[in-house]
Amino acid sequence: MRVGVIGASGYTGGELLRILAMHEACEISCATSRKYAGERIHKVHPHLREILDMRFENLAPEDVATRSDVVFTALPHGVPMKIVPVLLEHGVKVVDLSGDFRFKSISTYEKYYQLKHEHPEIKAIYGLPELYREKIKKAEVVANPGCYPTSIILGVAPLIKERIIDVGKIIADSKSGASGGGAQPKPVLHFCMVEENILPYKVSSHRHLPEIEERLREFDERVSVSFVPHLVPVIRGIETTIHCFLIEDVEGEEIKKIYEKFYEGEPFVRVLNHREMPRMSSVRGTNYIDIGCFEVDKERERAIVVSVIDNLVKGASGQAVQNMNIMLGFKEDMGLRSIGVHP
Ligand SMILES: NC(=O)c1ccc[n+]([C@@H]2O[C@H](COP(=O)([O-])OP(=O)(O)OC[C@H]3O[C@@H](n4cnc5c(N)ncnc54)[C@H](OP(=O)(O)O)[C@@H]3O)[C@@H](O)[C@H]2O)c1
Repeated sequence: MRVGVIGASGYTGGELLRILAMHEACEISCATSRKYAGERIHKVHPHLREILDMRFENLAPEDVATRSDVVFTALPHGVPMKIVPVLLEHGVKVVDLSGDFRFKSISTYEKYYQLKHEHPEIKAIYGLPELYREKIKKAEVVANPGCYPTSIILGVAPLIKERIIDVGKIIADSKSGASGGGAQPKPVLHFCMVEENILPYKVSSHRHLPEIEERLREFDERVSVSFVPHLVPVIRGIETTIHCFLIEDVEGEEIKKIYEKFYEGEPFVRVLNHREMPRMSSVRGTNYIDIGCFEVDKERERAIVVSVIDNLVKGASGQAVQNMNIMLGFKEDMGLRSIGVHP
């Protein structure tokens, strides 16, 4: 399959190139960048030296489409909504990594992204394979989920489905590494601002919040999530601690079994033991989500679940390739079987 990457000079674009270089059924047909057109890939992504012998090109979407069977758009929100319609007109399949096509409610998108949607008629499938695999198989365009939503939706969905928590009071306390902000330099991502700090931000208004609630409300329309993201001084990784208030008397071991059953057979979900804490470092560079803790605080009728992902892999490019594999009928883990590192 010929695969094009639009926005290949960014962090998720670079991660797509790294993963696709290991994919036995794909050939990278083009990697676009406006800023680095004509430059070798390893000028921007030094780890790909002698792995990918190609150059960035500044191509119109039509030209990417004629060279590709499937295209990834790894661009800031607002840009894919202009490009994806052109790609679809040319008959290619698309996986978009931005927020542009994730929402069922266009007015919610427009409110949180402060943009008028130019193509609300394009209906994408939300690319969370653990919940939407059958729909993804038939999709022409997949909206790859946000990084925080991946960690939170997968982290709490089994408890909502099992109807053992108060769905109106879910608390998701997330910490993300600085690569979540992309490659574009910003004062808030300056070393001196990130290092030795833990910074809560957009504590009640992050644009991933409505994405999380929209999907979890498919299980129960009363779902309400208090979501507080934090920036922490790591490069990659998201850790989410989820606090839920129990309406049934259950033990931690039983909660663990609920997760095991829900994710049975899932290639990229690892359910840890009761009281075993997932570590961000264990999923670094991998497409896994590790879910664990499953602690019950009986006195306060509270259950605590912890999930970890690599924001650039299961939170972005790895999940995007997982979606492509499903769309094209490939084995779902093709190109994605890399093992993490420790320590
Ligand atoms: N970083 C994460 O952890 C993460 C996780 C999940 C989802 N996402 C989403 O994935 C998308 C890409 O994120 P990122 O972190 O990779 O961002 P990034 O590092 O800033 O890269 C974005 C790329 O898009 C290109 N670009 C920017 N504006 C453009 C325009 N108007 N037209 C064409 N190309 C343009 C830039 O390349 P040139 O300037 O070289 O052309 C840049 O390399 C975003 O929508 C983001 O929300 C990111």
